Amino acid sequence: MDVWAAVRFHDRVDRLVGSLTAARVIDPGDWRQRVWLAGLREVPRHFFVPARAYAVPVSAAGGVRVIDRGEAALDWWDAVYSDSTIVTQRDGGLTDVTDPAGVATCSLSAPLVALRFLVLADLADHHRVLEIGTGTGWMAAMLSWRLSADQVVSVEVDKELVERARGSLERAGREPLVVAGDGADGHPETSPYDLVHVTCSVQEVPMAWVEQTRPGGAIVLPWTPSQATRSGGFQTRLVVLLPRQFAPGGAQVGDQLVEILGRRQM
Ligand SMILES: C[S@@+](CC[C@H](N)C(=O)[O-])C[C@H]1O[C@@H](n2cnc3c(N)ncnc32)[C@H](O)[C@@H]1O
Repeated sequence: MDVWAAVRFHDRVDRLVGSLTAARVIDPGDWRQRVWLAGLREVPRHFFVPARAYAVPVSAAGGVRVIDRGEAALDWWDAVYSDSTIVTQRDGGLTDVTDPAGVATCSLSAPLVALRFLVLADLADHHRVLEIGTGTGWMAAMLSWRLSADQVVSVEVDKELVERARGSLERAGREPLVVAGDGADGHPETSPYDLVHVTCSVQEVPMAWVEQTRPGGAIVLPWTPSQATRSGGFQTRLVVLLPRQFAPGGAQVGDQLVEILGRRQM
């Protein structure tokens, strides 16, 4: 990182961490949650944002805008280190990312939303994670920082995004396995996982995710039950129970393969 990039990064990430702390996204008394604030400092978010993108602030009214590092560098930095979703692709790359008429097909999640999912995930040091929806690669980098790259596998359906994400992850020094494919199939080769962390909207949970999660493991996902609520939906945590045949004494626990433990409006 050149010296100005370092100054811009440290200045802005401090402010972002301050605003997330004030918003009480994280319980400061719980180190397993607090660790993610350190992650924001350790994983430079700007490595995962293209020079031209489109910022959508989460809470501030207004502020939706094209960001362009070449044209307005300081504004680009401000957006990347604010609580904004950053749209990085529209219509699978067919529409310019700066054209709001196109449908966003890849975006870097806003820090507040991403951290809430990470808190819901409740990771432990030994966990192995399958991420569905690599996108820019930022979340895969955060997970790889918290665990290790060996403990993270990420699946992305768009081959071009896979290539871009691999490049950004290499630059950030975090290189989990990134697989091109349909996340609905999971990645059985390296299963079982302690956590399936889904970052694309989900209407129905594929059985493959349940089968590839160890009993007691969790699936965390943005559940958007209908197209009409695609922008809203629920932050959902499912816990995979023991399949009936393995339940102690054949107990009834196997009647229900997953249990919904956490669910909050996004
Ligand atoms: C909100 S973005 C992901 C954000 C990402 N985790 C990050 O840190 O930038 C959602 C991503 O899910 C991908 N996606 C959508 N459907 C998918 C599927 N069936 N399998 C794998 N990836 C999928 C999209 O291409 C997009 O890149």
